[in-house]
Amino acid sequence: MRTAHVAGALFTLAVAGIGCKSSTPEPLGSGEPEEVTFAQPFLWGSASAGFQVEKGLPNTDWGAWVRTPGKIKNGDDPDRGGADALAHIDDDVALLVAAGQNAYRFSIEWARIYPTRAAFDADQPDAAALASYDKLFAALHAAKITPFVTMQHFALPSYLSDPSKSAEPQGWERPEIVSMFGTWCGRVAKRWGGDVDWWGTINEPLVAPIAGYISGSFPPGLLLAVDRALIAGKNAARAHGKCFDAIKGADTRDIDGDGKASMVGIVHNTPAVEPEDPTYPDDVAAADRVRYINNHWILNAVVRGEWDDDFDGKLDGPNDKKVDPDLVGRSDFIGINYYSAVWATVNGLQLPIINAFIKNDRLPNDRPKTDFHWDIYPKGFRIVLGEAKTYGLPVVITENGIADSADANRARFVLEHLYELGRAKAEGLDVRGYFYWSLLDNFEWASGFCPRFGLHTVDRTTGARTARASTQVYARVAKTGLVSKKDIDAQPPYSPPVYCE
Ligand code: FCB
Repeated sequence: MRTAHVAGALFTLAVAGIGCKSSTPEPLGSGEPEEVTFAQPFLWGSASAGFQVEKGLPNTDWGAWVRTPGKIKNGDDPDRGGADALAHIDDDVALLVAAGQNAYRFSIEWARIYPTRAAFDADQPDAAALASYDKLFAALHAAKITPFVTMQHFALPSYLSDPSKSAEPQGWERPEIVSMFGTWCGRVAKRWGGDVDWWGTINEPLVAPIAGYISGSFPPGLLLAVDRALIAGKNAARAHGKCFDAIKGADTRDIDGDGKASMVGIVHNTPAVEPEDPTYPDDVAAADRVRYINNHWILNAVVRGEWDDDFDGKLDGPNDKKVDPDLVGRSDFIGINYYSAVWATVNGLQLPIINAFIKNDRLPNDRPKTDFHWDIYPKGFRIVLGEAKTYGLPVVITENGIADSADANRARFVLEHLYELGRAKAEGLDVRGYFYWSLLDNFEWASGFCPRFGLHTVDRTTGARTARASTQVYARVAKTGLVSKKDIDAQPPYSPPVYCE
């Protein structure tokens, strides 16, 4: 069994190693438009997360994880050779401008603003931390770049999540986190509501529980504790509701003049979930279950208020609710992170409750792969967008990107995904923006600095940033709002990845 990193996709459990062939791209097929267009206003940006690009967050669960031998590939540490983004604010804003982007997604770090529980309880924020984020907002406004702020992106303060105490509930498992997160969101929205209209509450609220309690690659590092993962997921859903309400109460300033002071949504990881063997009904049923639990369960809750307490897909259990008043309507938009496909099967170790075995990388098929062993699967993106459309809300693509150290495949990857996004838009999806993951090469959680997702490289000694060539391909789309089949065909076919081992 492997217990490697699982950020963008889902559970990483045992997988057969397979070789990857150099593949030619899937033909786009007939009946597909020559070009797709994105009219203004549209958020064209890239994304980051505090722990992945900032320095100096030792007082978090991830800080503790980095200090625990054997948890991070090569012993990498964002404090040693990381992007140090708060020391490079002007540089990074200049990169966004040079790359033709008009939006930037980043997180504000709870443990930086409130380093101790006493500081949180007394509402005594750290002055230097406030000043750093003030500076970032000022630089973004001066450059006319729209901020999209994530309230929580994986790292939690040590006073809420301590992997050395994993016998007791940690992080999202702890009942008090629900109201504390609401308080956190309200304070952030009060301070920066005049700078921000777009808010993401929790980044990938099910990935952290899955990686933390089932595959063990995130803190607190447990294996197969599905029951605890689901408690964490439920608390995250409820915490999102509190956060939504708190932002609505605290952010009363409409910056972009659209008549809304805030647009608030969850940021959800939604892979294309497929049966390993589509001809085998039990695998098809397993894929339906995994798709329901991973992709739909939380959206059903925070959009429609459906509370399926036992995750069985029916609202008839003793703790289920058809319309939970604390959750219904708590979404102005849905944030979609899309990277790849996962396979579900009944062959192999079935996870309790979920009753399926899930593979998220090294899938034995002919699709091209990324440096991270994930499938490159733009068609899956449109499938997932079709699922999102059923909620009838605007959508923002909060993450989509590729680990590609050679920058050989990134331009094609971005164009093919934007083409599918444009098709979904033409078919009626209300999509408001696209954030490439990521602006910079950064600390990719348990995989350290190995996978290179950045539009820009970062010199690990000097911190100097350098644009990769694909940045300009993305910039052209941001400028013209247009992706054509010709643009895609002009790119070389996918080349074999440089596997990140
Ligand atoms: C997502 C995470 C992001 C990054 C990408 C590759 O799951 O939100 O922080 O790790 O995957």
